[in-house]
Amino acid sequence: MSTPAAFLDRLNATARLSEDGLARRMTQWPDVPARLKDAVSHGSLGGGKRLRPFLVVETAALFGVTAERALPAALALECIHCYSLVHDDLPAMDDDALRRGRPTVHIAYDEATAILAGDALLTFAFEILAGEETDTDPAVRCALVAALARTSGAAGMVGGQLLDLAAEGRYADDGKPLALPLDDILHLQAMKTGALFRFAVEAGGRLGRASASELAALDAYARLFGQAFQVADDLLDAEGDAATVGKATGKDAGAGKATLVGILGIAGARARLDDLVSRAKTALDPFGTRADILRAGVDFVAARQS
Ligand code: IPE
Ligand code: IPE
Ligand code: MG
Ligand code: MG
Ligand code: MG
Repeated sequence: MSTPAAFLDRLNATARLSEDGLARRMTQWPDVPARLKDAVSHGSLGGGKRLRPFLVVETAALFGVTAERALPAALALECIHCYSLVHDDLPAMDDDALRRGRPTVHIAYDEATAILAGDALLTFAFEILAGEETDTDPAVRCALVAALARTSGAAGMVGGQLLDLAAEGRYADDGKPLALPLDDILHLQAMKTGALFRFAVEAGGRLGRASASELAALDAYARLFGQAFQVADDLLDAEGDAATVGKATGKDAGAGKATLVGILGIAGARARLDDLVSRAKTALDPFGTRADILRAGVDFVAARQS
């Protein structure tokens, strides 16, 4: 088992590679208006745990692919994630002023610039992913582009975001939160959060030419990882303080968000989180101890304070 310190070293190494890789690509970005480049940088550099790049890099590493080779796919995914946060924080969505301990993009700039910065990150992701550095095989690049479009789009993250807002009761005649049953909340969260984690391990697996059964095992892990991640996020909203978490807390219940904390309570959500962590680790059985770093990843996600 990886020690927490060894795990943090690996996570930090990927975070550094991600930060440097994104910054380098942005300095080489021609013809981008300065205000837009600044807003994109604000929304994507200088913060973030870089969990999704970590999953791409460490999944690829299971198959002997170096971090440098896995990096373009990891950066493309991180661009999508950062765009999703910029838009998630907009006044029309969650209306948040704090992200990663700093003002959100629409606060630091303005709403229209934040919308465009999100659009720029979304499209930049596909420019990076389609590039030759991603994989020598054009068929693999094409499969990754299709997979990222699918998991980040209307049947994935974007669709989940719509369901998340609908659950607040915004589109209900009485305007009341929908009081969704457990399965509907799981479905919503699998789309809004889980889909990008599933892409992360699919990308790592495809870069490593994983077999169908290996991809299936990784996908099972990613689904459970995504659920654990979102339960932990919802617990942080309920219990964390903004200074530590780096974003506003105590908002989900008042907004009528569909969360597991809402229907299971704090203790119930914690018990479920423990169960998800152990099931996620078991899903990696086919990889033996080679996957210990990915097992440590799910422990980290469950215990994190930010
Ligand atoms: C936060 O994601 C948004 C959700 C999907 C719930 P992270 O907790 O991974 O955010 P950063 O990138 O580390 O800031
Ligand atoms: C956001 O979920 C999910 C996406 C951005 C796709 P949340 O709204 O719970 O994320 P936070 O709590 O603002 O980071
Ligand atoms: Mg949201
Ligand atoms: Mg939010
Ligand atoms: Mg949240």
